[in-house]
Amino acid sequence: MTSETNTVAVALPTRRERRRPTRKGKTYFIRTFGCQMNEHDSERIAGLLEADGMTAVGSVGAADLVVLNTCAIRENADNRLYGNLGHLKADKDERPALQIAVGGCLAQKDRNVVRDRAPWVDVVFGTHNIDRLVSLLDQADEWGPVTEILEESAAVPELPAKRDDPHRAWVTIMIGCNNSCTFCIVPALRGAEMSRRPSDVLSEVRRLVADGVVEVTLLGQNVNSYGRDLDLGGRKPLFADLLRQVGSVDGLERVFYTSPHPKDFNRDVAEAMAETRAVCEHLHLPLQSGSDRILAAMHRGYNAERFLGKVEMAREVYPGIALTTDIIVGFPGETDDDFQATLDVVAAARFDSAFTFIYSSRPGTAAADMVDEFVDPGVVRERYLKLTELQDEIAFEKNQAVVGQSLQLLSSGPSRKDEAVTSGRSRTNKTVNVAGTVPAGQLFDAVVTVAHPHHLTGRLV
Ligand code: 5AD
Ligand code: SF4
Repeated sequence: MTSETNTVAVALPTRRERRRPTRKGKTYFIRTFGCQMNEHDSERIAGLLEADGMTAVGSVGAADLVVLNTCAIRENADNRLYGNLGHLKADKDERPALQIAVGGCLAQKDRNVVRDRAPWVDVVFGTHNIDRLVSLLDQADEWGPVTEILEESAAVPELPAKRDDPHRAWVTIMIGCNNSCTFCIVPALRGAEMSRRPSDVLSEVRRLVADGVVEVTLLGQNVNSYGRDLDLGGRKPLFADLLRQVGSVDGLERVFYTSPHPKDFNRDVAEAMAETRAVCEHLHLPLQSGSDRILAAMHRGYNAERFLGKVEMAREVYPGIALTTDIIVGFPGETDDDFQATLDVVAAARFDSAFTFIYSSRPGTAAADMVDEFVDPGVVRERYLKLTELQDEIAFEKNQAVVGQSLQLLSSGPSRKDEAVTSGRSRTNKTVNVAGTVPAGQLFDAVVTVAHPHHLTGRLV
């Protein structure tokens, strides 16, 4: 506290001054559900709490505050949240001073459901007002449970993040999504697209590098739309420009990004990737389905042929690029033929890996109204297994093809299973385990010796 504050101690203290000593020295625990944006939001929540004097702990039992940062993309995320809240009630009964805050996409979507089903929650906050968390916790301290959800963000929030990894960082380049994929709840929860100015992104990246970061992942729901909402004196910055600029920051070794939309992914971006040394050979291009009929029903804005054309273009422009994807099985109306078309595209595209999802109906999305066309869950499960089997085979073959090659790896430190083994990640975003010790954050070379379906083993060079 400053001496100035001391001199006015006789005056009525502001709420902030009255509360400050009560949270300083207290502990918090954050549980994150969902995607990388949520992981990054959790880092920012941690940043706010630490700026307020709190310290992180590794378990609910040791925490004075528990924050659940929720996800709404599929139904199982809902179930996990309510399961967690049930357990937390028991903790709160035992320790009434424990504060519980629920934020993120599911809080944004189901604000009242969370309140009704878990009245013991102190603060419900949304995706557009993370910066208000400390103030809402104060309010709950003094006035009891509070719910505050905003419908949109005024700007992309500039919040300090507390990172767990000193060498790798996420950098938000835009928030929101202007697309209307019929299965997806994100646009309803994260709002319209809003880009950060390139100068703000670059200063953050430079600050991170000065702090020891060697790898950044640029985050946005739809990075190809980056800059369309900005006006830099009559000019709009493009994502390709941003990639070139970020990739040229001195001292930055690696740049990844996620996710582009196949309909907007173009040669200019592929060329920017290939020409910019730090931008890694990895592209996440979400396919969703290989059936033209289903892609149209999903409002994806491309067909299988165009998707495969983009894959071919990316491989031609940036040789050695690894491709990953997202696929949904069982979208309403999906027939055996539609599913076969997905298998055909998967076989043709030969992804290095795929995140495969069973369609989950999200109330509020257009597809949720297609109830008459919901696919039998047994059929969906069978298709899902068939798809993962094919993709695993392809992933294994792709991994076998790199045996004998030397890869540049970034060390993440000792592997989780064995202290004597270093876990590294290649520029193609593959995990490679190598016997020996390489400090986290260091780049090193290894020759791949053994392929596994989902990772590689290598030998230090
Ligand atoms: N059901 C299943 N998967 C979904 N995804 C988004 N919405 C749904 C849904 N309702 C998947 C998409 C997206 C990824 C992040 O999550 O494949 O690319
Ligand atoms: Fe959802 Fe489609 Fe936007 Fe991705 S592009 S966040 S799938 S609406």
